[in-house]
Amino acid sequence: MMLQMTGAGVHCAVPPPREALLARLGAGEPLGAPGSESWSASIFLALAPMEGISDFVVRSMLSELGGMDICVTEFIRVTDRPTPPAVLRRACPELDMEGRTDSGVPVLVQLLGSDPTAVAESARTACDLGALGIDLNFGCPARRVNGHHGGAAVLREPRDLERIVAATRSACPARVSVSAKVRLGWDDPDDILDIAHAAEVGGADWLTIHGRTKTGMYTSPADWRRIGLARAHVSIPVVANGDIFSPDDLVSCAQVTGCSAFMLGRGAFQDPNLFRWIRGLDRGAWVQSHLCRLLLDFIARANAHHGPGTDRLALNRLKQWVRSMGQTHPEMYNMFSTLKHIQTLHEAVGLICGAIDHTVHARPSLTL
Ligand SMILES: Cc1cc2nc3c(=O)[nH]c(=O)nc-3n(C[C@H](O)[C@H](O)[C@H](O)COP(=O)(O)O)c2cc1C
Repeated sequence: MMLQMTGAGVHCAVPPPREALLARLGAGEPLGAPGSESWSASIFLALAPMEGISDFVVRSMLSELGGMDICVTEFIRVTDRPTPPAVLRRACPELDMEGRTDSGVPVLVQLLGSDPTAVAESARTACDLGALGIDLNFGCPARRVNGHHGGAAVLREPRDLERIVAATRSACPARVSVSAKVRLGWDDPDDILDIAHAAEVGGADWLTIHGRTKTGMYTSPADWRRIGLARAHVSIPVVANGDIFSPDDLVSCAQVTGCSAFMLGRGAFQDPNLFRWIRGLDRGAWVQSHLCRLLLDFIARANAHHGPGTDRLALNRLKQWVRSMGQTHPEMYNMFSTLKHIQTLHEAVGLICGAIDHTVHARPSLTL
């Protein structure tokens, strides 16, 4: 297996999947002191699955910027029947690209279901189509999902979680990784120890822990301390997830959890260069003109991917992204207050271009 280290992380010269990912995840102590350049280059960074956000276009764009080791599809719901290939391909077009984004970052196919046989057969189909890894969702808090004993509902029965992981592991070839993504518990965060143990016994290659219970939804602060307790409780690698919005957050999370692998969700959507920033490839968050150029690129790619007649979808996604950026960038917050009233993609593009022109023209007078 040939692995090449670059400033932007690891790029694999041949399809690696499981062993290379595991070697990287379980590489032991990262180099140097937390936050140092060598440390930032040697940690493992994943883009979180986010339904309605981290689709093919966004995965492609964010992975292209650099600094990301893996990404995960939005969850694919598995009912009591195996998922057809067309559904898997639609959720993960990268299956037709050797399981990677066009810049070469491996994409894990995330499945959500409670029937071990149906999940395992869906996973096997994904492997046949070229998946490099399968990630199992045990964190979704949506009522319609939990009502069918899916997502976070499985956390109430760690033995069920173990069965789903075990069935999936035995259905997938050894070269394909099988991982689980969990919350701390349904309502009791101390359940994480049993949950982590169940994932390990089931044969998960690694575990991502979102440091909240299901009842904590997205509001309570992520409990990194308990992620650390779970990490010490199992021998498989643990990826820490929740509330990492800056390099400083990541260093604090590393210190509290003892983890060297991290998954970034909302922070990477708000600041698309967060991976680069953490790796030391950028000195800070991007300014508005950078963000606006990225958004124009997003519109072009979304239109190309979704085809004619999908302007409304692109406009809604654009509003969602600008609103999210507005949480950390005051200029984007201001832009959203205008954008939210706009009805056509054409007008939205005009607004974004205007913001770029404004910053370009404002710059000479600022530097005088
Ligand atoms: C809009 C949205 C959609 C999400 N969809 C998924 C999903 O499809 N699968 C999953 O495992 N987690 C999903 N999550 C949870 C995230 O992967 C992540 O665990 C959570 O946002 C905490 O990380 P963060 O604080 O870095 O955002 C979603 C989160 C958000 C905000």
